[in-house]
Amino acid sequence: MSGTVACQSAKCPNGHPPSKLECPTCHKLGIQGSFFCGQECFKADCKSGQKSHKRVHDIVAPRKPLLDDPSISKSGDGTFNPFHNFEFTGSMRPVYPLSPRRIIPEHIKRPDYAESGEPTSEVKGAGRLRILTLEEQEKMRVACRLSREVLDIAASHVRPGITTDEIDAIVHEATIERNAYPSPLNYRDFPKSVCTSLNEVICHGIPDQRKLQEGDIINIDVSLYYDGFHGDVNATYPVGRIDDESKKLIRTTRECLDEAIKLCKPGFLIRDIGKTIEPIARANGCSVVRMYTGHGINELFHCTPYPPHYAKNKAIGMMKPGMTLTIEPMINIGSHWDLVHWPDNWTATTVDGKKSAQFEETLLITETGVEVLTAGKPMELL
Ligand code: MF3
Ligand code: CO
Repeated sequence: MSGTVACQSAKCPNGHPPSKLECPTCHKLGIQGSFFCGQECFKADCKSGQKSHKRVHDIVAPRKPLLDDPSISKSGDGTFNPFHNFEFTGSMRPVYPLSPRRIIPEHIKRPDYAESGEPTSEVKGAGRLRILTLEEQEKMRVACRLSREVLDIAASHVRPGITTDEIDAIVHEATIERNAYPSPLNYRDFPKSVCTSLNEVICHGIPDQRKLQEGDIINIDVSLYYDGFHGDVNATYPVGRIDDESKKLIRTTRECLDEAIKLCKPGFLIRDIGKTIEPIARANGCSVVRMYTGHGINELFHCTPYPPHYAKNKAIGMMKPGMTLTIEPMINIGSHWDLVHWPDNWTATTVDGKKSAQFEETLLITETGVEVLTAGKPMELL
């Protein structure tokens, strides 16, 4: 990343031209790429004290004293670990700096949190159960088909050497090319357009300068907002050749999701999804993450119902025709289902550094069963 940077103001009235005016606060903090085409855009979006800007500072440069600490050594290529005092549970590390915020063209319809970071409608409406009309179901079909297309494009670039930030760029471009908004971008201040979760990272990994290495496993979680509705789909892929234990983990996780989907139909109890998933995980020497669940999805990115993926849960409610929801089991090798977050407050990792995998589909409950709105081609045999 070098040369000119497009104006970083989300609402640049000049079409985000190449820009030379750099935010001095960002520059001091070591945040690269805070360039604006003029005072107007700088003031509108980056002036210190502005809430959204402060959040970007906080995420990109988590703690100022850390950056003043001489023991934060940048490696030869200028990358660094911003949380060097944190006790990591495995061998994954953040590789900063994050790239500059990616731009959304003006004509693309945004969800309410796109500027503020706060999903106001979701906070208000998350508890109401939505049954979609036929017209709304059709819109979900489109958003979900586009989500799958973008995931498949991203997956086709998985190979040793590519960075997760480059995958983020691919997802971002493919999404806006389809006139859609990448749902993760600025959702509760998430700084990127996709989640990339490798090895012991369970979910919500932030794309950065980490290069994929042969033997890694990577989950790519794509969600996008099109014509007022969100689609959400993720899958876990091998990077080059992987060990047998990792292959088994990926196969087991896919089986957990597929078996759960087979049971979906009107009247099926939300709490019984986990009853199917957990025995499959256990039989394969794995455990089921309890802290994150599936979710309803429609005009809201996340809403009721929230199906747990573990057995003996007490979730209420049953499936009804016209309901759209995700199932997205996160499965860990070994018996530790608990998780630890990195200081970025997003990246969730296993407590013992063992690998974790995930698959997700968005589903529509029909009169007779279920339609997998994000369905792709069957997974190649590992
Ligand atoms: N796509 C995730 C899910 O399955 C949500 C990611 S939220 C983000 O629910 F902000 F991290 F992107
Ligand atoms: Co989801």
